[in-house]
Amino acid sequence: MGEISSQTKNKVEVCFSPTLFPIYFDNRNCIVVVIDVLRATTAICAAFEDGVAAVIPVATIEEATEYKQKGYVVGAERNAEVIDGFDFGNSPLTFQKGKYKDQTIVLTTTNGTQAIDVAKNAQQVIIGSFYNLDAVCDFIEKEDKDVLLLCAGWKERFNLEDTLFAGAVVEKLAENIRFHDLADSAIAALNLYENAKGNLYQFLGESSHRKRLSNLNLEEDIVCCLTLNQSKLVPILKGNKLEVHKIESPLSAVS
Ligand code: MLT
Repeated sequence: MGEISSQTKNKVEVCFSPTLFPIYFDNRNCIVVVIDVLRATTAICAAFEDGVAAVIPVATIEEATEYKQKGYVVGAERNAEVIDGFDFGNSPLTFQKGKYKDQTIVLTTTNGTQAIDVAKNAQQVIIGSFYNLDAVCDFIEKEDKDVLLLCAGWKERFNLEDTLFAGAVVEKLAENIRFHDLADSAIAALNLYENAKGNLYQFLGESSHRKRLSNLNLEEDIVCCLTLNQSKLVPILKGNKLEVHKIESPLSAVS
C-alpha cells in the first residue's frame, strides 16, 4: 500500500484528566475511550462478560439513590469502598456466575462514571480496560476515526494505571499506518507502557490507587484488573446506557 498523507491518518491523543477534556475534545467525530483501569471500567467490562444487559452509569449518589428507589440493582462506590444501602461497589469480581444476567444495572463510582459523564456528548463513547484491550483496539481500527483516550485519573489528577492502558492502546494502533498521527500525550503514554508492560503489577507497586486498594485487601481485584483480554466485548454509550458491541473477527492491521 502507498504512503498515507498526514491528513488521512487518524489522530491518537490521550487526555490525562477529565478536567482537561474540553481542551482535548476538538473533534466531535472522534471515538472517546473512557479508561478507569482500577476499577470502574474493568468492573463494567466484567459485568457485560457475565451477562448483564446494560449498565446505566451515573455521576452522583443522589441519582443512584433515585434508581435504587425505583427498584434497580445499583452499585455505588466512593474512595474504593461500597456505600451502605447499595447492592455492590466497584469490584469486577462481583460479576460471576451470571449473578445479574440480562438485568440493567446502575453504577456510580468516584472517578470512572464521572469521566463517562464528562464525555457523554461525544459522537461515540466506548469503555476500555486491560480486560477488553484487544477488542477495544479492533473496534477503533474498524471505525477508522480519530481517537481520544480519556483517563479517569483520581479526583481529576493524573494516575499511572489509566495512562498505562492508554499506552497499550497506542502501541497496538501504531502497528496500523492509519493511526500514525500520535500526539505528544500518546507518545508519552506509549513510552510509559513500554517500560511497564513486562510486569504491570510490579510497575504499579508504588502507585497511589494500587496502594489504596491493597490497604483494603483488594489484591485480587488488582490482579483481575491487570489481566489482559478476558473479554471480547466493547461497552458503548447509547443515550444514558452502556450496551455491548461484540467483536466477531479481529481485523488485520493495514500495512
Ligand atoms: C473509581 O471510579 O474511582 C474507581 O474505580 C475507584 C475504585 O477502585 O473503586
